[in-house]
Amino acid sequence: MIRMKKILVANWKMHKTRREALSFLAALQEPERLSLKIAAPYTLIAELVDACHGREVEIGAQNMHEAASGAYTGEISLGMLRDVGAKFVLIGHSERRHLFKESEEEIQAKVERAVVEGFPLILCVGETEEEKTQGETEEVLKRQLLSALEELSVEQLEKVLIAYEPVWAIGTGKNAIPSDVNNTHRSIRDILFQSLGAAPPILYGGSVSVENISDFLRFEHIAGALVGGASLEVSNVNQMIQKIEFLEV
Ligand code: PGA
Repeated sequence: MIRMKKILVANWKMHKTRREALSFLAALQEPERLSLKIAAPYTLIAELVDACHGREVEIGAQNMHEAASGAYTGEISLGMLRDVGAKFVLIGHSERRHLFKESEEEIQAKVERAVVEGFPLILCVGETEEEKTQGETEEVLKRQLLSALEELSVEQLEKVLIAYEPVWAIGTGKNAIPSDVNNTHRSIRDILFQSLGAAPPILYGGSVSVENISDFLRFEHIAGALVGGASLEVSNVNQMIQKIEFLEV
């Protein structure tokens, strides 16, 4: 059986200058048996794309505006991301949903823009602590997934990855239990298969670290990890690459 490559996405959030980003790349180990992506701040994308030429690292963005162009001061369009060589975009990250009050309608519009333009996207979903305590996880995930993806064809879904990131586990050091995450990923697959006829690979995110990444990625339904804080240090990322490459799954 051919082992599907696991996926490691570094989400740098609002961190790093150009100099810091380039010295990270200079020390980054070349991955062989996994797919490595960096969701970089806008200001770094063009330079990182140049620096990654011929390397096994894909550079993408953390957000975008849904309109093709227009009077939206401070915003960035998908055409601009493509122009600087970005290869994917995160949509609906929990920090966008909660800190910047992005609505499900906006997220759906962003997904639609990316899909119309044939641009790969990573849709982030996840429940809050309160929703989890109330036993609403599955309902919340279903709503977030279907409101964003319901109109997509099986073919369009091929350019989509899902990142399941429980809000209570992001940047908190609180770990979800890997077998629970695997079960949640299985429910996400079921929801998507039932409604759309296919399900993209599902990444897990939320306080993933060098110490725990193998515990998550050895599960069948956990296709990879979206890593924030622990992805800022190149030595951590190199260790994660090592761990994933030698993971027996
Ligand atoms: P964290 O962030 O790894 O720092 O918890 C993950 C994310 O926000 O994507």
